[in-house]
Amino acid sequence: MKRIIRSVLVVFLIFVGALSFAQETAAPAPPYLRDLAAKHHLLLGTSIQRGGLNNPGVLRTAPREFDAFTIENELKPASISGGPDSYFFYAPDYMIKWGEEHGMQIRGHTLVWHRSVPNWLLKANLKKDQILAFLHDYITTVVGRYKGRLYAWDVVNEVLDEQGRLRQGKSSFWAKNCGDVYIEDAFRWARAADSKVRLFINDYGVVTVNAKSNGLYALVKRLLARHVPIDGVGFQCHVTEQSPPNFKSVAENIRRFTALGLEVQITELDVRIKDKATPKQLEHQGDIYAGFFRLAVTMRGVTGVTLWGVSDAVSWIPGAFPGFDSALLFDDRFNPKPAYFAVKKVLAESVLKKK
Ligand code: G3I
Repeated sequence: MKRIIRSVLVVFLIFVGALSFAQETAAPAPPYLRDLAAKHHLLLGTSIQRGGLNNPGVLRTAPREFDAFTIENELKPASISGGPDSYFFYAPDYMIKWGEEHGMQIRGHTLVWHRSVPNWLLKANLKKDQILAFLHDYITTVVGRYKGRLYAWDVVNEVLDEQGRLRQGKSSFWAKNCGDVYIEDAFRWARAADSKVRLFINDYGVVTVNAKSNGLYALVKRLLARHVPIDGVGFQCHVTEQSPPNFKSVAENIRRFTALGLEVQITELDVRIKDKATPKQLEHQGDIYAGFFRLAVTMRGVTGVTLWGVSDAVSWIPGAFPGFDSALLFDDRFNPKPAYFAVKKVLAESVLKKK
């Protein structure tokens, strides 16, 4: 009798174990998002951190669903610059090799950002010429090291204030010490170091037509008039489920940038939800994602969409916005959410001629 009870118990435990494993790995069936996006000539990316490459969920899901990724933190100047001639390349080297082994295209992020100035530089008390000389060496070294291996660089990130003016004074180390010239210089030096990599200006709060995107548009026009080598504009798009953007305005905005001959990418997409997400909110989140992807597959000049993280398990949102979560296509167990299926549905639609 005891033996029978033990066997029943063992079978039961195996069943429960298999069930919970199945729950964690309820992988969606093919076709996967990356294959569907490729039919629309749309690069589908995610951001990845070095730590993510130790996470089985990221390792399993990222290369299956995405054909590109942005190095989320490990190429920021504060991460790799230890002094005028001192660099820490171990993490990005590892990540780029991993991406290449998995057939993924890789985006460099970012060469100049006021929120990632190397600590030593902040303390060094250098003059304008010395700072620009460092920036030249830095860009030449970093872009040169990965020449031919990245598809794009976010050359400058968030150089505008909320009103669409160039950051000034205290709000940016670069503006305060170098005026505005560093922006143009950064593009020229990046182009000199890699003649093929696509060079982007990237910012937040610029996806619709508004004061800030008007400022971005004017800046980009000025740069183009001065023959600055800029290939594209990146719209970050960290939005909330409660107040999604007006997609008519997004379309109008995209159109004016692509009309300048530039490509547009949605570079950091996530849709955060306040408190514990209800089924209704998750459906609504799916509609918002679908809204972005519908524009991406129908508008000429939109060349890629990058999600800011593979799953809710590795998202920056709960850390940065207490009370918010559930921002991505996969949940914290890497199971696909309604938003995943909403995106898939749009990508599965027939390929139309882009307008
Ligand atoms: O890795 C360290 C860990 O060792 C340490 O114990 C821990 C303690 O705070 O910090 C960890 O580093 C954090 C890192 O993310 C890795 O998780 C940093 O503190 C934290 O500041 C960093 O935040 C990143 C943030 O940029 C600032 O660089 C986020 O992950 C990243 O998602 C976010 O990305 C930015 C884009 O670059 C630009 N656009 C906005 C976007 C969101 O802020």
